[in-house]
Amino acid sequence: MSKTFPRRVFSGIQPSGNLTLGNYLGALRRFGEMQDAENEALFCVVDMHAITVWQDPAKLRSAIRELTAAFIACGIDPQRSILFNQSQVPAHAELGWILSCIARIGWLNRMTQFKDKAGKDREAASVGLYSYPTLMAADILAYHATHVPVGDDQKQHVELTRDIAAKFNHDYGIEFFPLPEPVIEGAATRVMSLRDGTKKMSKSDPSDMSRINLRDDADAIAQKIRKARTDPDPLPERYADLESRPEARNLVNIYAALADEEPDAVVASFAGRPFSEFKPALAELAVSHLAPITARIEELLADPAGIDRILGEGADRAAAIAEPILDRTREIVGFVNSRPAR
Ligand code: AMP
Ligand code: TRP
Repeated sequence: MSKTFPRRVFSGIQPSGNLTLGNYLGALRRFGEMQDAENEALFCVVDMHAITVWQDPAKLRSAIRELTAAFIACGIDPQRSILFNQSQVPAHAELGWILSCIARIGWLNRMTQFKDKAGKDREAASVGLYSYPTLMAADILAYHATHVPVGDDQKQHVELTRDIAAKFNHDYGIEFFPLPEPVIEGAATRVMSLRDGTKKMSKSDPSDMSRINLRDDADAIAQKIRKARTDPDPLPERYADLESRPEARNLVNIYAALADEEPDAVVASFAGRPFSEFKPALAELAVSHLAPITARIEELLADPAGIDRILGEGADRAAAIAEPILDRTREIVGFVNSRPAR
């Protein structure tokens, strides 16, 4: 590739309720750090992705507002960045269709998230759940975004986006779409369940004890950490010695990410001490970090009209970037574009 595209950050999160510490450490907190004054970063509440599985309409509406509040509480500034919900910008759906004609069935068949989410009865999954990654590619490419901060589990989808962009450019013989980079950084790109260190901490886990929710109060957080599964051994001398102890390693990773320290330094400062001493320190750290965020979320949610206004303004600004890119895409594909200027 010879053409260089200006740096532009895009990321999205599904409004499916119950944001967790995993969402915070793996995504939300890092988004705030990637905001860019020169070239607006875009943060999207991907409500169209959410309906790939059944969503109760009233709950979906409140989850969209809750996620918007969480974005802001975690440091996204809706003036500096563009914060909006996907369904208010039709370019996502339109480009999604065009890109679904570029992506190959064989590529989608390799997506592990579909296999996980569809479960055993794949025939009963929605068509949208299957083609989900082509809509995600459209989210990113509609803005010519170059950098996509995500947790580890989304790497495969960003790589697919690159493949789709490259095939589009190749088929039409034009360097039109950038090949976006996944940005996966930090000690906690994969926060694990507090009950099972081999499973990702997830908002959809049936056990609430497996996760810390961004809206949990201090008592709930402390109790969940106290009851988190560990093994009977004390903390070792070196982080590397935690390799076969996934639950212990997860708690150390969480501590390191919250304290902004290297996992090695965390292990060194607790070496030889039992988890009964480490856990209260972790609980205190988690509460002091999350309490102001929780409070801010509640404060913002008290004014739903204010949140809707932020989303509407964000969608206008997003559409102003996406529409010219979409017009150009239509032209490249060969569609006739002859409506009088709107
Ligand atoms: P999701 O909740 O699956 O829509 O994910 C939203 C964002 O949070 C994505 O960037 C995920 O990669 C990230 N994320 C979700 N769960 C975790 C986790 N347990 N650890 C790290 N990142 C996560
Ligand atoms: N698929 C992502 C997830 O499940 C959410 C998402 C949709 C996204 N569109 C995106 C993430 C674009 C980054 C960029 O977490």
